[in-house]
Amino acid sequence: FNVPDLIRKKRDGGEHSHAELEGLILGYTRGEVPDYQISAWLMAVYLRGMTPQETADLTLVMAGSGDQLDLGDLPRTVDKHSTGGVGDKTSLILTPMLSALGLTVAKMSGRGLAHTGGTIDKLESFPGWTPELSEERFLAQAREIGLALVGQSRDLAPADGKLYALRDVTATVDCLPLIASSIMSKKLASGAHTVVLDVKVGAGAFMQTLEDGRALARAMVDIGTRAGRQVRAVLTDMDAPLGHMAGNSLEVQEALDTLRGTGPEDLTELCVALAVEVLAAAGEDEGEAAARARATLHDGSALEKFRAFVAAQGGDPALVDEPGHLDVAPGRSDITAPAAGFVGRIDALGVGRAVLALGGGRERKGEAIDHGVGVELLKKPGEAVDRGEAVLRLYHRDGRGLDTARRLLEDGLSIVDTAPAPEKLILDRV
Ligand code: URA
Repeated sequence: FNVPDLIRKKRDGGEHSHAELEGLILGYTRGEVPDYQISAWLMAVYLRGMTPQETADLTLVMAGSGDQLDLGDLPRTVDKHSTGGVGDKTSLILTPMLSALGLTVAKMSGRGLAHTGGTIDKLESFPGWTPELSEERFLAQAREIGLALVGQSRDLAPADGKLYALRDVTATVDCLPLIASSIMSKKLASGAHTVVLDVKVGAGAFMQTLEDGRALARAMVDIGTRAGRQVRAVLTDMDAPLGHMAGNSLEVQEALDTLRGTGPEDLTELCVALAVEVLAAAGEDEGEAAARARATLHDGSALEKFRAFVAAQGGDPALVDEPGHLDVAPGRSDITAPAAGFVGRIDALGVGRAVLALGGGRERKGEAIDHGVGVELLKKPGEAVDRGEAVLRLYHRDGRGLDTARRLLEDGLSIVDTAPAPEKLILDRV
């Protein structure tokens, strides 16, 4: 086939066949089709869009471009994905809940980039814990404990990695079929039968409006369904950070509180809601699902799974029971309310950027991070405050990045006269 013909076809609003997408994308992955042709094609896709069938075909081609994990005969495999937020430690809680419920989580997770955190970074707050397991050990642990979590293999959906880098420099990232296929190619290649997607919407998220979030969620569920997987999505608010903590060790501490049944309400409710989606997608009765999911946080079963999982991957399980011994940076600095009133807004993006400024995140792939720094929301939006009362607390190391972080937090904080209407956390389900 002829690449200029394919670019022309998309430029003029035509629809590609599976064979055409395979030729183009696998040719690009092998280095036979150059960047400049794929750049032109990406822009044509950006302007013309893709049909649901084309989007699903593109996803399957990317998923098949490298290694695909074969979870084989592991029972009831499930995966979850969040489109990325601030203070989003849900995976740390939800995955042991699911394994306590008898499902198998054999999952690949990412590291944080820019203002969003990553599950692997959070887990590395446990000294010795490793995201690198041989495939054999990974599968054996998933079978024994029901929970194994590794970093994303470089050979998982390599077409997506290459295309994403090109999209980044050709202004074609924010294109719905390209985002949906990118995310789902990695989920399909990771092998789980049931997938729950947490699509974040708001100031701290990729998708700024509910309408955009819903369209992305529908596109991803459609792709998964066409590929024969059970996929559900929930749309959740990300205007303010989730829970009270942002920053790696701090988030682990909060996750451990939640696994003990004493976590913040928003975080607990989100984990229960996501567990319900997974159980329902896996064919269980929805009516009883919430009570069963919640019970794992109160009877110690989810915590026990988490302890076994940390130990199996080289971490010290004693830290699971003594979270106060995790390394938290010793410096403290508070942001106080300039007037009495109610907390109006705590901008999630500002909190994420503040953690980054303190050294808790990375601007570029591969940079080292400080697990101990972060931000605590002493008050959440809607809570009453007195003048001079502390609203936010920064945990810093020797003042590094403190001035920038304080400015970011001050800019993102508003104190209002009347209590704002409570924000709904779960905005919709798809
Ligand atoms: N996350 C991804 O993995 N891919 C995108 O295109 C956007 C967000």
